[in-house]
Amino acid sequence: MGTLVVDGVGKVYPGDAGHGPTAALDGVSFRVGENEFCALLGHSGCGKTTLLNLVAGFEQPTTGRITLDGEPVGRPGRERAVIFQDYALFPWLTVHGNIGFGLRTKGLPAAERERIVTQHVALVGLTGFERRYPHQLSGGMRQRVAIARALAVDPSLLLLDEPFAALDAQNRHLMQDELARIWALETKTMVLVTHSIEEAIRLADRIVVLSRRPGRVKEDIRVDLPRPHHEDDPGYIALRRHIRALLWDGVPQTKPAAEGHGGKTSTPGDERRAWERLQPRRDIGSGGGLVAAEAAPTGSRSDVHGEVRALRGPR
Ligand SMILES: Nc1ncnc2c1ncn2[C@@H]1O[C@H](COP(=O)(O)OP(=O)(O)OP(=O)(O)O)[C@@H](O)[C@H]1O
Ligand SMILES: [Mg+2]
Repeated sequence: MGTLVVDGVGKVYPGDAGHGPTAALDGVSFRVGENEFCALLGHSGCGKTTLLNLVAGFEQPTTGRITLDGEPVGRPGRERAVIFQDYALFPWLTVHGNIGFGLRTKGLPAAERERIVTQHVALVGLTGFERRYPHQLSGGMRQRVAIARALAVDPSLLLLDEPFAALDAQNRHLMQDELARIWALETKTMVLVTHSIEEAIRLADRIVVLSRRPGRVKEDIRVDLPRPHHEDDPGYIALRRHIRALLWDGVPQTKPAAEGHGGKTSTPGDERRAWERLQPRRDIGSGGGLVAAEAAPTGSRSDVHGEVRALRGPR
């Protein structure tokens, strides 16, 4: 269970007073196999959240089709759990209450609910904190509760939208490891939206790299590295370099400030510098992410493929 197929999906948001329509996604196709961990990676505003919302059923595609285990995805359903950046916990419920919330609507007997809650509290390492309220927890602990709550209802597909973005670098790293550990235990199909190249490579089996808006699939990359995906692995380093080049493809890396600076037109160089200024500082501590794209190579893509092949050896 948990095979997701996104087939030719486009999304245009209708305009309103003063704004024209927005094409957020265009002809996006990819497949996520059962128990696979897929990352959707792309620049801010390229349509990642839109895509996740379509898969979750919060929005409907303008074109194309999305299926889960062969069934068209319609409205939100219990088989597709979503974890948001801001945790979205119920502040009036304890850790225990939050994790057990979805189970009440499943109509399970009380003893069975208790068993599942206890198991999931332990899974995310919160045993002893069951009676605390969200405001009494750290950001990392809150996100653990959100993960446990989502998994407790046993979904076929777990959707995560920048789940660790609000955490400091150290906690983000820790939670990435935690998520990898939980995924290995629970073996669920997961789709993670992220800006961070490192987060994508650390966690995913497959990385779908999206272009700038309207988001299109630039490349669907299989992460063929031994787990855990370690940042010192030469294959990891080569893949990171490849994805940086891919994301900044066609954007000059060293061009001086454009003549049009301050004028009406902007060049890709301006756009890139502006984008870098707008990025939250959160990526710096984790050793790069897109903020570190300054170091992106200008070499051709085929060189990078060659480098990856050479590092990984023949298959
Ligand atoms: N409900 C909406 N109505 C109109 N336009 C929208 C709506 N939601 C998103 N958009 C537009 O669609 C585009 C894609 O937005 P989306 O939130 O999917 O991007 P994103 O890749 O998740 O960005 P970020 O990384 O900053 O979270 C943006 O131009 C955004 O303004
Ligand atoms: Mg988003």
